[in-house]
Amino acid sequence: MSVHVVEHPLVHNALMTLRDAQTQPKVFRRITIHINLLLAAEATRDLPASPVTVQTPLAPAEGRRVSADVVVVPVLRAGLGMLDAILELIPGARVGHIGLQRDESTAIASQYYSKLPRGLEKSVVLMIDPMLATGGSAVAALDHLSHAGARDIRMICIVAAPEGVDLVQKHHPGVRIYTPAIDRQLNEHKYIVPGLGDFGDRLYGTV
Ligand code: URA
Repeated sequence: MSVHVVEHPLVHNALMTLRDAQTQPKVFRRITIHINLLLAAEATRDLPASPVTVQTPLAPAEGRRVSADVVVVPVLRAGLGMLDAILELIPGARVGHIGLQRDESTAIASQYYSKLPRGLEKSVVLMIDPMLATGGSAVAALDHLSHAGARDIRMICIVAAPEGVDLVQKHHPGVRIYTPAIDRQLNEHKYIVPGLGDFGDRLYGTV
């Protein structure tokens, strides 16, 4: 199953605040952090871990520490808003960037920037892009990551459209998508309905 619809009530609580048109950028940013902490926890549920022992004040305690090399790849610009939360959880993660710009009239994505860490073949790659709309940018970014060698790719988004999910599944069936919501449809401007509007504009106050 490559689409994981996250049902956690706190995720949905946060999502409703993000959807609300009355939510101002200051709160929008804070809630974006909350929802991403929870989504990232879900997307990393099966990360490889190795046994370790630490000394508590009372006795040795056996446990596990994450042993995977995690690479987080925000798709610019909106994906940047999701990065801090994930680095808070996985401070040792390496970070790549992919810059894609959507032509507002055609909704076609073109790449204007890319910088990726080496050795993606052995990494767990978390691609972060809040809105999976047509899927055009997601597929372009996933093509790029696959060509760079990434094998285990998980995409985290906050709202998805059925069209975007279908396109990603068609072109990258091995990629796991984590989202709390697959909305109704895209409108004529390729925005997700009901969605939450333009994520980047709401996050950065550029409306
Ligand atoms: N990008 C957004 O920010 N919102 C949408 O609804 C679609 C793409």
